[in-house]
Amino acid sequence: MIVNNISPRNISTGPMQIAKGKFYLETYGCQMNVADSELVVSILQDSGFMLTTDYKDADAIFINTCSIRENAELRVKGRLDNFRHLKKKTPHLIVGILGCMAERLKDQWLDEDKLVDMVVGPDAYRELPDLIKLANTGEKAINVILSRDETYSDISPVRLDKNGVTSFVSIMRGCDNMCAYCVVPFTRGRERSRNYKTIISEVEDLVVKGYKEVTLLGQNVDKYNWNDGEVNFAHLLEIVAKVSPELRVRFSTSYPQDITDEVLEIMAKYHNICKYIHLPVQSGSNKILELMKRGYTREHYMQRVESIRRIIPDCAISTDIIAGFCSETEQDHKDTLSLMKWAKFDYAYMFQYSERPNTLAQRKYQDDVPDEVKTHRLTQIIELQNHLSLESNKLDLGKVFEVLVEGVSKKSGEKLFGRNSQNKVVVFPKEHYKIGDYANVLVKECTSATLKGVPVL
Ligand code: SAH
Ligand code: SF4
Ligand code: F3S
Repeated sequence: MIVNNISPRNISTGPMQIAKGKFYLETYGCQMNVADSELVVSILQDSGFMLTTDYKDADAIFINTCSIRENAELRVKGRLDNFRHLKKKTPHLIVGILGCMAERLKDQWLDEDKLVDMVVGPDAYRELPDLIKLANTGEKAINVILSRDETYSDISPVRLDKNGVTSFVSIMRGCDNMCAYCVVPFTRGRERSRNYKTIISEVEDLVVKGYKEVTLLGQNVDKYNWNDGEVNFAHLLEIVAKVSPELRVRFSTSYPQDITDEVLEIMAKYHNICKYIHLPVQSGSNKILELMKRGYTREHYMQRVESIRRIIPDCAISTDIIAGFCSETEQDHKDTLSLMKWAKFDYAYMFQYSERPNTLAQRKYQDDVPDEVKTHRLTQIIELQNHLSLESNKLDLGKVFEVLVEGVSKKSGEKLFGRNSQNKVVVFPKEHYKIGDYANVLVKECTSATLKGVPVL
């Protein structure tokens, strides 16, 4: 066991055994963190701990955290305040920080916040049971060691999704790209691929359990590489698609420099590989892309979009955009808007640049775009995307889509919602359909966010 024991702590109630105790887990951040939380639950349950959904009932509270933007961290810190009074009342309560903020802030947590008893980075979850035992004796417990080979291959995640229909499967960990603004390489460590055989058995197990959709996860899935090229991402996609024609396959995230035509051709070949690619562009300006160290140009990105449209004509494309990166001028911003219009993105995740400690951008560049300007540019980007999403949805009026039903519509108990292959949300009257069914839906109306229709045979 690798732990650093920091400053023994006296507890008035004396050591308490929480083996067979209850733990509560809250997850922030990306799909990777959701998948990791499922590993955490599996590891803890295997050691005799029990998951509770009520933190007031828990002997240990864990927060799986995100560091991607300052706001993400502030949200977690705000949430911790809710647990402070509980800790005063029940001093034996253990509070643990997991995930990216554990990795980024390391023992600062223990120095700065008395509430925190445990700090566990994303590659150290196997140590959780031992770390809990240590924390239980009144010691502070920390393990933030990053690994070059940990992929938790052999651990069967305990599914925490609510619908029993869609699930994440992690295929790799870490990231070697070192984009200038990004904290992920520091919080998640080096890129490594998981053994494809364990991926397949996890997918097969999901099929047996009745799941209808898997999303293969990695920060840059196109770099998936098992055993020096024995299995690349295109091969993996094909093997997963062949597990069951009833199982939809999605993946995230594709990287513009690395996505290959081989992957696009496999997507086109299999009906059950969803016709949807999330291809983050970040900026439409070559100067900014260069500063961001993204490794591609606007022209290269456009060429990849053209290949997607040629090989998979019905493919939807979404993106990520950062507004107000260091030294971004009005012209750079306009280049982003013009690229968005050209690409006609179906959907986008849009952010204001947030400087992250120790990244290249923080060390070498000036965060010199004033907040008001960042906000203004982001607003323009969001307005344009709303328009583009609406235009994209309008083109679907009158079309019939195969929709995988995920749940009951929030607005009406008489309606169901699901997604089409293109990842668009489709709402339609329930009739005899139930969650997990495929329904063919004729689209009759739309907003920028949703397609609405009726089932047809
Ligand atoms: N691996 C994925 C992205 C993971 S992070 C990729 O490379 O595309 C998700 C998104 O958060 C990024 O695409 C980026 O748009 C945004 N992001 C990352 N760091 C950020 C920062 N410092 N400020 C604002 N947005 C950021
Ligand atoms: Fe961050 Fe770039 Fe890696 Fe994505 S590819 S996680 S943006 S460093
Ligand atoms: Fe956040 Fe870590 Fe994911 S920083 S976005 S939880 S990899």
